[in-house]
Amino acid sequence: MNILNASGCLDALAAPGVVAALDGFVTKTVTPDARVGNQPARIAETSHGMLNAIGLANPGRDAFLRDYLPELRSFGKPLWVSVGGFSASEYAETCALLTDVTIEINLSCPNVDEAPESAAEIVAACRAATTLPLYAKLSPAAWDIAEVARAVEAAGADGLTLVNTLRGMALDRRLRPVLNRGTGGYSGPSLRPVALAAVYACRRATALPIVGMGGITTGREALEMIACGATAIALGTVLFADPDAPARVRHELDEALAEAGFGNADDAVGAAHETVAM
Ligand SMILES: Cc1cc2nc3c(=O)[nH]c(=O)nc-3n(C[C@H](O)[C@H](O)[C@H](O)COP(=O)(O)O)c2cc1C
Repeated sequence: MNILNASGCLDALAAPGVVAALDGFVTKTVTPDARVGNQPARIAETSHGMLNAIGLANPGRDAFLRDYLPELRSFGKPLWVSVGGFSASEYAETCALLTDVTIEINLSCPNVDEAPESAAEIVAACRAATTLPLYAKLSPAAWDIAEVARAVEAAGADGLTLVNTLRGMALDRRLRPVLNRGTGGYSGPSLRPVALAAVYACRRATALPIVGMGGITTGREALEMIACGATAIALGTVLFADPDAPARVRHELDEALAEAGFGNADDAVGAAHETVAM
C-alpha cells in the first residue's frame, strides 16, 4: 500500500528524511505564474484541526521546472506534481510541459478564486494535453461528490485524490477572524469522517483508484480509509506535528491489518462495502 504526503504538507528539500519514508512525493500545487500567496496570518490552530490560507504560494511553473523539479528527481521516488490554475487552459498548459510524473489536478483549493470551468472541463483539457497519469483532486464540499467523480472519470481522469480541505474560520479573542483572508482550508482529524464518506461514495460510483486523505494520524485510521475504498493513502496535517508519521503509520497499518484478519492491504480495499446493505 503506497503512502504519500498530501500536497502542500511537506517541503521535500527541507525534510529529505521524511520523503525517504514515503512511496512517492507530491509537490505543492504549481500555478503558471509565481504566487506569494495570501498575507499572514495564513495558519491557525483550532481545537480539532488546522486552518490554512496559504493561497497557493509557489514559484510558478517555469521556475518549478527549471530549479525545483530536477532536485526532486534526485530523491529517486515516484513524483506527483500538483497542478493548479485559473482556467482550463492554464491547467492544460502546465500538464503539457510535464514528463515522467503523475499529475494531480487540484480542482479544489478553498483559498483562491476557482477556475470558471467545471471539474470535468478542466480534466478534459488536461487529458487532451498529456498522456501522463491524471488524478483529479476533489473538494469534499461538493453536494454530490460521486457525481463529480463520475464526470471526471468520463472526462479522462485515471484516478481520484480525496479529499482537499473544507472551508473554515476561527476567531481571535477580539472576535476578529484569525486568518487575514478570513477563511481557510480546514484539515486534520475532524476532516476524517468527511473524507471516509467521500472515498466510500466515490468507490461506489467509479472504478478509479483513489488516494485517500483527510485527518489520518494512525495505522488504524489508514485502514479505515482503505476499507472505504482508498487504494493508496496520503498524510497531511499530521506531518507538521509528527514528521516520523510515515514509518509509524506504515508499521501500525501492518498491525491493524493483521488484527482485522487481512493478509495484506490490497485485500482490505473496499472491505467496508461488503458489510453494508444499500
Ligand atoms: C498547510 C497546507 C497546505 C496545503 N496546500 C495544498 C496545495 O497546495 N494543494 C492541494 O491540493 N492541497 C493542499 N493542502 C490540502 C492537503 O493536501 C490535504 O488535502 C488536506 O490537508 C487533508 O488532509 P489532512 O487532513 O491529512 O491534512 C494543504 C493543506 C495544508 C494543511
